[in-house]
Amino acid sequence: MPEPVVLHTADRMRECVREWRASGQSVALVPTMGNLHAGHLSLAGLARSEADRVVATIFVNPTQFGAGEDFEAYPRTLDEDLAMLSAAGTVDAVFVPEMSEIYPFGAGEAVRVSMPALSRELCGASRPGHFDGVASVVCRLLNVATPDVLVLGLKDYQQLILVERMVADLGIGVRVVSGPTMREPDGLAISSRNRYLTDDERSRAPALYAALNKVVVALRDGAGDYRALQQAAEDELRGAGFEPDYVEVRCAADLARPNGRQPPDELVVLAAVLLGKARLIDNLHVRGAEPARIQLRRSENS
Ligand code: PAF
Repeated sequence: MPEPVVLHTADRMRECVREWRASGQSVALVPTMGNLHAGHLSLAGLARSEADRVVATIFVNPTQFGAGEDFEAYPRTLDEDLAMLSAAGTVDAVFVPEMSEIYPFGAGEAVRVSMPALSRELCGASRPGHFDGVASVVCRLLNVATPDVLVLGLKDYQQLILVERMVADLGIGVRVVSGPTMREPDGLAISSRNRYLTDDERSRAPALYAALNKVVVALRDGAGDYRALQQAAEDELRGAGFEPDYVEVRCAADLARPNGRQPPDELVVLAAVLLGKARLIDNLHVRGAEPARIQLRRSENS
């Protein structure tokens, strides 16, 4: 496959998509903030199987960072990102817009998408405005690239559910497809923020995945006291040197609080923690969790 074309303006991006469409080709969009890793590459691979043409976007979106968060420090690694996408050979175009292409009136004065209450729960509770910022930029990227398919990762589960909600609520004609969380061999979910971990923190980080697995096992075994499970997981994480933001059991379909009548298969366990400077998030669907690992945990704990 030829090198992906790199486009910096919304006009060029629109023109490119218009040409593809003129020859009857469909388009998938993979939005990213760069600093690409195996998780992004797997989403680009998924996008390839969903459409004739694939566009990846690289844009560090200021409106989804709160005061004191890592917008300035967020790793910007464009050359490496482009090299990775080239080597992967799954992407036709990379949209790398300047700030003014996305926010022509400035990010501070931007029209914003205001998301419903779920955006203020879970990660939104400690990151006010974050999901409004995510929705605002995803909406703009969809307007520019007008893809048939939008590919997002299950790793950012709340983001996925909220973007699906925005697409449905605003009547945006795109199909949202989600790709699985990529993990290191020890279970740690791959994330750009893992690079903030010291060696010692990195060696402790898989305890987050282990804690989620433990809750999943308990739910599968019929445990129904979600509060107790959440509390036990948070205590365990605190004991392992994490500062838990939350561990919560929610309905996988819409992240509503479960009423106790849902079968465990319809639940998802989500967590956010601080480990040193890194804010790590992860989640496990009860239905989709890997049986082999769960088996392992079960025998370790028995
Ligand atoms: O998941 C991300 O990297 C970002 O939130 C996204 C979807 C690219 C919007 O900036």
